[in-house]
Amino acid sequence: MLTGIIGAMAVETEAIKALIDAPVTERVGNIEFVRGKLCGRDVVVAQCGIGKVFAAICAQTMILKYAPDRIINTGVAGTLSETVGLLDIAVSSSVVEHDMDTSPLGDPVGMISGINIVNIPASEGLISDICAAAERLGKRWAVGVIASGDQFIADKAKKEYIRDTFSAIACEMEGAAIGHVCYVNGVDFAVIRCISDNADDHAGAMDYPTLCKRAAEQSQALLTELLRN
Ligand code: ADE
Repeated sequence: MLTGIIGAMAVETEAIKALIDAPVTERVGNIEFVRGKLCGRDVVVAQCGIGKVFAAICAQTMILKYAPDRIINTGVAGTLSETVGLLDIAVSSSVVEHDMDTSPLGDPVGMISGINIVNIPASEGLISDICAAAERLGKRWAVGVIASGDQFIADKAKKEYIRDTFSAIACEMEGAAIGHVCYVNGVDFAVIRCISDNADDHAGAMDYPTLCKRAAEQSQALLTELLRN
């Protein structure tokens, strides 16, 4: 069983790479893949870069080169929900691309033409294993829709639009692209995100710069707890 692990930024991946036993590094294009053992499991880890396109390039390349059985996206997110607070964990039940919109043609907002769905379901087995790992760590966690788009959300009106349109609990910029690629390739996936900000007017200047590192560490801690058991 090979687990692919993707994070967007160095703060979301470097500490994981540092824990890998017998790491073998290979570069494809601008992406560095580190293959080895993490907590006794076979893993391949990559930093994809920020946004949906980089995330999709990375996920597709990882699938073609390493054929992982499942891919987990780890990192930080803004909360969209009153009940998911700073440094809580959001686990994807499904992912949506909140900036996908062909509604002028009569489609539902967020529908991905070709596969014709809005919500891309995450692996139920992974979701329950992640929640069990969060329980063991004594973390506060919630399972729900995670919304991705090529925007850092730091605006109350945008936050409410995404929450109300997609019933989403958290927003970030890569998870749905990775889910999209996994879906079309028949690969299991899930997104683990620790909340770094409230996606409101304070997000960019206050919460995110203060909490991003701690949130990234907590997402990584949950990932390693998941792999350990
Ligand atoms: N990642 C962390 N916080 C975010 C936000 N508010 N919007 C988009 N991506 C994020």
